[in-house]
Amino acid sequence: MDSELINHDYYLLRGDKILALIRRIFHRYPEFRHDSFKYYARFARLYGGKVDKSPALKKVITFSDNSQSLYFGCPVMLAAGANKTAKRIPDYANVGFGGISVGTATRRFREGNTHRPRIGFLEEDRAIHNSMGLNNEGVEVIAERVDEQLIRAHKAGLCVGISIAETPGITDEAEKLKETVETFSIAYQAADYIEVNVSCPNTGESRIDLNTCFTERLFSEIMKFRNTQAVRKAVYAKLSPDLLERGLIAVMDILVRCGVNGVVMGNTFPSAKSEVIHLSTPLEKMAVLRDDGDRGGISGRPLYENMCWMVRYIKKNYPGMSVMACGGIDHGYKVYDLLKLGVDVVQCYSVVAFRWMAAHAMRRELQAALAADGYHNLDEFLNNEHA
Ligand SMILES: Cc1cc2nc3c(=O)[nH]c(=O)nc-3n(C[C@H](O)[C@H](O)[C@H](O)COP(=O)(O)O)c2cc1C
Repeated sequence: MDSELINHDYYLLRGDKILALIRRIFHRYPEFRHDSFKYYARFARLYGGKVDKSPALKKVITFSDNSQSLYFGCPVMLAAGANKTAKRIPDYANVGFGGISVGTATRRFREGNTHRPRIGFLEEDRAIHNSMGLNNEGVEVIAERVDEQLIRAHKAGLCVGISIAETPGITDEAEKLKETVETFSIAYQAADYIEVNVSCPNTGESRIDLNTCFTERLFSEIMKFRNTQAVRKAVYAKLSPDLLERGLIAVMDILVRCGVNGVVMGNTFPSAKSEVIHLSTPLEKMAVLRDDGDRGGISGRPLYENMCWMVRYIKKNYPGMSVMACGGIDHGYKVYDLLKLGVDVVQCYSVVAFRWMAAHAMRRELQAALAADGYHNLDEFLNNEHA
């Protein structure tokens, strides 16, 4: 890996130590600990969190196929899974985010996996592993909530995407296709963009991004629907970071052929292959999160280097694709490095469990990195990069 893509680290400050204490106190209730983030966002003003309306880090994504542009208060987004209900979306601007993917939503309510716990914290690695299994209230409920809050979310500087996925358990491909396109069409009416999650490792089924035939059928139907709509909204595919080069090429070629606007790279990393991401926690020390003995998908700091490799590969070989980078992003310098690679925005999740006011901290670091290179704001940097 070259020097510009180092896994920058941050000093643990008082707030980060408070978060560590909270994790320790609630170590028997990891799912409660995870869910409490919504309260942390809701009451952020009590401990100094507020919407940052400064234009310095504003980011706009434009698309060559005339899809509606996307407006972000800053290029740091909250990734799918952290707000599965789509309730109180504007709260997430208080904690510094410039965009959010809500969901993942499936066609109907899903309880998710029944095993408990479904989440574990890997303290040494600053990582989380989970096997939630796409628990959600169903796309109609989620889309309605997004619709109600979208204007307020925009005023707070948030771009709002809905993440959707297939309904696990449907074995008939035609039925699966129909349900997923229906889910897409409902989410489409409400959100700024749609993220199609084809890489969840926690449903107990084979992932769509490993089945190129179905991936092609799915995205050609989705884009066919999209192209008949009065307003053309951007469509992203969320892929798995464990794809090997050949698999990545196969999926990327399909996405380009179908006219998909971009990719979110990527989802949690399947724990069964965890040797690839160099965890210091051995697999056998991780809690079992599923009845079949699986430890779920790993998220957080250890994903970063592998994700960078994949993002670099995509930007080099598919430069027209918009990329939202996701995986172990926990420092503003990393955001800056990724923007230099051509990434449009970054998404993060695990960092909120480890860093106090993580997105605000990353904003400050990004601004410092820009200033160190002589830029007054993100626009100046982007204009220079594209000159
Ligand atoms: C508890 C948990 C639940 C998640 N749920 C979803 C989900 O519903 N849909 C999705 O696309 N990704 C989900 N993810 C994956 C994240 O969106 C993200 O891709 C992954 O955690 C890597 O980013 P990070 O290293 O910043 O955490 C989940 C991750 C975690 C830790």
